[in-house]
Amino acid sequence: QKAVTLPSLAALRAAGEKITMLTCYDASFATLMDKSGVEVLLIGDSLGMVCNGHTSTLPVTVQEVAYHTAAVARGAKSAMIMADLPFGSYGTPEQALASCVQLMQAGAHIVKIEGAGWLADTVRFLVQRGVPVCAHIGLTPQFVHQLGGYKVQGKTVEGAEALKADALKLQEAGASIVLLEAVPAAVGKEVTDALSIPTIGIGAGPDCSGQVLVMHDLLGVFPGRKARFVRNFMEGQPSIGDAFAAYVAAVKDGSFPALEHCF
Ligand code: KIV
Ligand code: NA
Repeated sequence: QKAVTLPSLAALRAAGEKITMLTCYDASFATLMDKSGVEVLLIGDSLGMVCNGHTSTLPVTVQEVAYHTAAVARGAKSAMIMADLPFGSYGTPEQALASCVQLMQAGAHIVKIEGAGWLADTVRFLVQRGVPVCAHIGLTPQFVHQLGGYKVQGKTVEGAEALKADALKLQEAGASIVLLEAVPAAVGKEVTDALSIPTIGIGAGPDCSGQVLVMHDLLGVFPGRKARFVRNFMEGQPSIGDAFAAYVAAVKDGSFPALEHCF
């Protein structure tokens, strides 16, 4: 397998081939995902919830993301390694850069940052200094207390227009990827069509350039009720590696996400 790079992801988008991404937190699963053909491994700040049992992502620190990033980077051979900037670690461009240095020195190839158009200056600052950026918009879990819960975003005409304007602004600032979380499928398509960089969706419909899921959700390892956008890929599979391969196949052939997974 050849190394996944920003140009190779752009080539997938140009060819109309879907990009596959999963969250990953340790070396063993990284090796398995990499072998299964997952193109991007995200060390999400969801690690605070799925690994550490917190009820939100807010307690996660840069040091914790860096620790898991180093583990994932050791396990992966060809996948792109994306690390989340956690809550409070990008208040200013300078602070964001200092946080990114920790994550990239741990093995990240690109960082993901939650925010909207207001982050454009920070994105530009990072990109100019050699830090590739994925901009995460829509439902941004670090803003859960401002949003009043984990709710679908961009449901109104104005909300959808604002999301598109934000995405364009972040692309213009130099973002390499836009991640869309929990938006109506029509908004996922509209934003994807408006951009020249790839979009990765989670609960954002089938028309994004790629898809991401939290590993534990894909494996059916989660407490409580399944979110609408989740599919348990362990169903009917004899092993975890087969479940990862089934996810890759379903994203590539367009059977995931289906209508039932969309807003
Ligand atoms: O932290 C995370 O797992 C994420 C994905 C849900 C996109 O940001
Ligand atoms: Na995250």
